[in-house]
Amino acid sequence: MTSTVVLGMQWGDEGKGKIVDLICPAFDAVVRYQGGDNAGHTVKFGDRHFALHLVPSGILHPGKSCVLGNGMVVRPAALFEELDGLAASGVDAGGRLFVSRRAHAILPPHLELDAAREAAAGDGKIGTTVRGIGPAYENKAARLGLRLGDLASAALEERLAPLLDHLGGELERLGRPRPDGAALLDACRGWAASLDPLLADTAYLLNDWLDDGRSLLFEGAQGALLDLDHGTYPFVTSSSTTTAGAGVGTGVPPGRIDGVLGILKAYTTRVGTGPFVTELEEDHGEFLRRRGNEVGTTTGRPRRCGWLDAVAARYAVMVNGVDAVALTKMDVLDTLDEIRICVAYRIDGEERRQVPATVEELGRAEPVYRTLPGWRSDTVGTVDFDRLPAAARSYVAAIEEEVGAPAAIVSSGPRREETILRPGAALERLLPAGAVASVRAAIGG
Ligand code: GDP
Ligand code: IMO
Ligand code: MG
Repeated sequence: MTSTVVLGMQWGDEGKGKIVDLICPAFDAVVRYQGGDNAGHTVKFGDRHFALHLVPSGILHPGKSCVLGNGMVVRPAALFEELDGLAASGVDAGGRLFVSRRAHAILPPHLELDAAREAAAGDGKIGTTVRGIGPAYENKAARLGLRLGDLASAALEERLAPLLDHLGGELERLGRPRPDGAALLDACRGWAASLDPLLADTAYLLNDWLDDGRSLLFEGAQGALLDLDHGTYPFVTSSSTTTAGAGVGTGVPPGRIDGVLGILKAYTTRVGTGPFVTELEEDHGEFLRRRGNEVGTTTGRPRRCGWLDAVAARYAVMVNGVDAVALTKMDVLDTLDEIRICVAYRIDGEERRQVPATVEELGRAEPVYRTLPGWRSDTVGTVDFDRLPAAARSYVAAIEEEVGAPAAIVSSGPRREETILRPGAALERLLPAGAVASVRAAIGG
């Protein structure tokens, strides 16, 4: 077992950063494969707190190699800001961060267009992070985009012209100024010079590392229900967030990916618009938001909250091939009398156990709940599964049954050490040989 994907099974913010940080000491390198700085991955240990957007969460571990794969979209200025912030916190990424020459560049007009479209859409807006993600991926698919490796091209001016023409046209239609081509050309040249020491042909690098017997941890961003193909389209992000995206987004072929750890929050959150079957509007939603500190890491927006949607999670297990789940934020439910899991949707009077393809149908879905008793005691920091209250263990068992995958990790707080690693084959399968013991030792369990 050498390469494992960690990805979100819901609408993002499941706690991917925490889990990647926890298990990455067992791997030689951590690799992002899609998305850009729309991601916000929080890592906490001791009294330290980091929010990572582009750089893999593995960067916080001294000496760990980190890769930004070809499937990503990267705003150069955002990357430099993040690296400066890390350096100011004593984290030196020098010589161990490798950025794909094939990753696409997000340029300032992409952000302007993202914002202009959202403003023009009014109530119909997607609620994007306004990081230019959608426009950059569109230009990639339209074969107009610039890759990071192109920024140093002698033909940059000619390459930039059709892109600016296209973006300028749409900005103008939306009542915004056209981009200043000369200023952008200068900026691109500056970014090219700063990026030069970081750029690499990362598909070769990663496959060479695997040939040498090294192990890779792929860090997904967003979540399965935000996937461009499998998510709640059009209220999705513009990349492939699912396991298959790790192959496309890195050049590591699917056959070299050995296992998938799905991160599942014990309830559901969503930022931005789009259908949300289990959303809680009133006291309970506010309760989860407050107790779970559900505020966007990237945009500071309050997250919409609701009960766990096992129909969606079961679908995420299927489309990702999830081998085991890391269940996070169960401690947020500690004080509740009862807890609900949505096990089916009722749509137009019919009970269904599959996620419908259209948002119109999903918007009409009523949740069918299974209700479980709460445990009404403090579980924060629990490290031993057997020490969880019986009702909490039953909640975990119900989730395993409903989503169809074992919970190999149960997270009992935001910090590394607040984690239950469950003994057994599920976790052994996902970590390199002998690594479970070292991860356990690292967190003092
Ligand atoms: P990501 O985008 O999937 O990495 O998740 P975010 O970092 O955006 O959001 C997850 C939030 O939950 C962060 O503030 C984490 O510190 C926090 N968190 C992660 N696991 C747990 C947990 O088990 N319990 C609690 N209370 N907080 C957690
Ligand atoms: P992490 O990696 C939660 C959401 C946005 C919006 C939709 C499209 O921290 O889990 P985009 O800017 O990508 O075009 O926005 O996707 N979104 C996220 N929601 N967590 C994220 O990342 C997200 N990245 C994008 O809120 O609904
Ligand atoms: Mg996040």
